[in-house]
Amino acid sequence: MSDQGLEGVVATSSAICDIDGINGVLIYRGYDIHDLAQHATFEEVVYLLWNGELPTRAQLDDLKRRLGASMALPKEVVELIEGFPKGSPPNPVLRTAFSALALYDPDRDDNSPEANYRKAIRATARMGPLVAAIQRVAEGKQPLEPDPSRSIAHNFMYLLQGKRPDEVTERVFDVALILHADHELNASTFAARVTAATLSDFYSAITSALGALFGPLHGGANAAAIKMLREIGTPDRAEAWVKAALGRHERIMGFGHRVYKTYDPRAAELKKMSKALAEKQGNLALYDTSVEIERVVQSEKRLYPNVDFYSASTYTALNIPGPLFTPIFAVSRIAGWSAHVLEQYAHNRLIRPRAEYIGDRGRTYVPIDRRG
Ligand code: SDX
Repeated sequence: MSDQGLEGVVATSSAICDIDGINGVLIYRGYDIHDLAQHATFEEVVYLLWNGELPTRAQLDDLKRRLGASMALPKEVVELIEGFPKGSPPNPVLRTAFSALALYDPDRDDNSPEANYRKAIRATARMGPLVAAIQRVAEGKQPLEPDPSRSIAHNFMYLLQGKRPDEVTERVFDVALILHADHELNASTFAARVTAATLSDFYSAITSALGALFGPLHGGANAAAIKMLREIGTPDRAEAWVKAALGRHERIMGFGHRVYKTYDPRAAELKKMSKALAEKQGNLALYDTSVEIERVVQSEKRLYPNVDFYSASTYTALNIPGPLFTPIFAVSRIAGWSAHVLEQYAHNRLIRPRAEYIGDRGRTYVPIDRRG
């Protein structure tokens, strides 16, 4: 059975993102992720991923204006969310509510490059407000109206928590959005490109990506990582817990990667922010426990943390609930998914690999009355 998961297979060519898994290097359109995390804003990175160049001031202002003008959710979609069964988990609610947005998009039936760019703007502007609204409804609260004059990061924290984030909080979340924005042909991006390659619509392609993202081997790992951190609780319990889990052949969530065979550069950035937040808040328990888990996994399995490990302690320090960690991944990755869908449409050929057939051959039909 070919269960290689397409490891090492080059499925397409793309100018959006490259990963050097041996040296732990990640670039978006030629710019190193560390430079972008230090100097850029998420909106600049959105423009870069979609257009291939960092924006001029005028181009950035235009994109921010268009994003701000699209943040408000159609009231019918909020009503749809309010109508779901109480206690519905955020992942399926997000997948369903996002898919419904297509029906309120004036470009619904237009698959032209211009219309798809407009859809990318609406989807990127609304993913944060959608996740925040899902959480507010789950808490029995009214969703808040976005502030079109503020950033995606500012709006997400404000819409989620009902109060304006301070500068540190906004910047930490903005950097987290930059770090998660794209990652070459990861499973959810590949799902989006396969869907777009049939010339299906933009929203179907992103809905495919959302479904793929939610798996614990992919974007679901960050929500699983915080559960593990809370279960371990303190650094002194980490070694025994991790060794017992490995002894049961369990995966340690937030570790290992199909491409990185060294430190995930995004994990390094998130680790720095997690420590800075923990020190600012005077509570290093989660961070110290994370560092001890990292030490044990490294010594036992020679595995490194990936983007989903230190995002767990970082988001917790921002008072974001654990079940929202995977939806937050989508708040950022919608930028990369959109870039890849636009690129696929622009240079398209149906994506249709083959399977190695390992079943039987030459069998004769047996009438049901003469079977078994
Ligand atoms: C993301 O692709 C991307 O770019 C994804 C992503 C992105 O930005 O889009 O980076 C985001 O999804 C990061 C990954 C999040 N997932 C997890 O943290 C889940 C835990 N990690 C693993 O399940 C695993 O590392 C994968 C799925 C991420 C990658 O696995 P592979 O490449 O299929 O490797 P494998 O499963 O064949 O494992 C190889 C060996 C095995 O040991 P043996 O059975 O051969 O002895 O490494 C072991 C595995 O058991 N291993 C782990 C492990 N990851 C791999 N052992 C314990 N814990 C782990 N986390």
